[in-house]
Formats: sequence, C-alpha cells, structure tokens
Amino acid sequence: MNCGNLNELRRLCLDCRLCELHSGRTNVVFGTGNPHAEIMFIGEGPGEQEDITGEPFVGRAGRLLDKYFYAMDIGREDIYISNMVKCRPPQNRDPSPEEQDICLQYLREQVRLIKPKMIICLGRIAAQKLIDPGFKVTKQHGEWVEKNGVLMMGTFHPASLLRNPAQKPAALEDFMKIRDKIAEMKIKVKK
Ligand code: URA
Repeated sequence: MNCGNLNELRRLCLDCRLCELHSGRTNVVFGTGNPHAEIMFIGEGPGEQEDITGEPFVGRAGRLLDKYFYAMDIGREDIYISNMVKCRPPQNRDPSPEEQDICLQYLREQVRLIKPKMIICLGRIAAQKLIDPGFKVTKQHGEWVEKNGVLMMGTFHPASLLRNPAQKPAALEDFMKIRDKIAEMKIKVKK
C-alpha cells in the first residue's frame, strides 16, 4: 500500500472487505484528528457508539479518555486517534490475530503518512501488536520504548479503567508522564 495522503487511504479503508468484520459494520472507523499530529493514540477497535458514528472513542470509554486529554491540556484536534482494527468486532470481542494482521496495513500506512514522534497504545491489544507480543499492561504500563525512531508507551485502556477504577491513579501517572515528555521533546500539540 502506498497512498499519497490520508484521504486516499481513508477511501480505500472505507471500501475494505478483507476480513469478516466488514459484514457486521455500520461504519468503518478510520481515525480522526490532525493529519500532521506528532502524537498518535491507538485503541483496540470500535465499539457500538463508534460503529454508529464512524468516530473513534465516542462512547463511555472515550469520555473518560477526554478527561485524561483535558488533564494533559491537549485536545482531540491536536492529536490523531485510531484503532488496531477499523470495524467493530461482534459483541465487542477482542479482534482476532488474523483480523489485526489484515487491518495492520491501514494503521502502518496511517503512521507512515502522519509520521508521529510518539505513539501511545491504549490497552493490551495495541501494546502487544505494536510494542511487545508479551506486553503486560499491569507490569509495563508507563514504560517508554523507542521503535524505528518513534517513542512508544502502552497504558491502560479506558474501558478497562471503567471496569477497574482502582487503576485510575496509575493511568493518570502515565498520562502525566506523557504530558512531561511532550514538553521535554517540544512535541507540537496545538494547531
Ligand atoms: N475502544 C477502543 O479500543 N476504541 C474505540 O474507538 C472505542 C472503544
């Protein structure tokens, strides 16, 4: 895949039928935000609200994520948000390894076109695929690793924080680390 820009890639992705997830979707959730963002957040896959609207992280988990963005003094227009898979898995099950592998070509192309300096993996599914196949969120959250010149961190998925509120202070610490690193690296987060 070699698209000239994100809109071209979006058009390809909206027509995708490469895996079975396409058959249950209402909308493809391609990703939203600043196409020149220096920081990307990657979740797992669309849920019900995302499938209905075509936008990532617009349900309960998304509203919690917005609170962390507020605490970091960044807005959605400053960053880019997408998911490992762009179509909703039935009953919000984990996307299978095959579905992730097929869909990864779109994410890789998004990263190639956006060229972020930092990628934050929200939850195990993204962190295991993009950082380390054995990634354990409870052990490795908040750790910085560099891959191909991009700084990466895995942290808690906001849906898991809704289920386990006791993890929220640790998640806030991670988000404050991200805020500090953004300042240290002079990463552009305002348009
Ligand atoms: N959970 C995700 O991983 N992604 C979304 O877009 C919404 C919920």
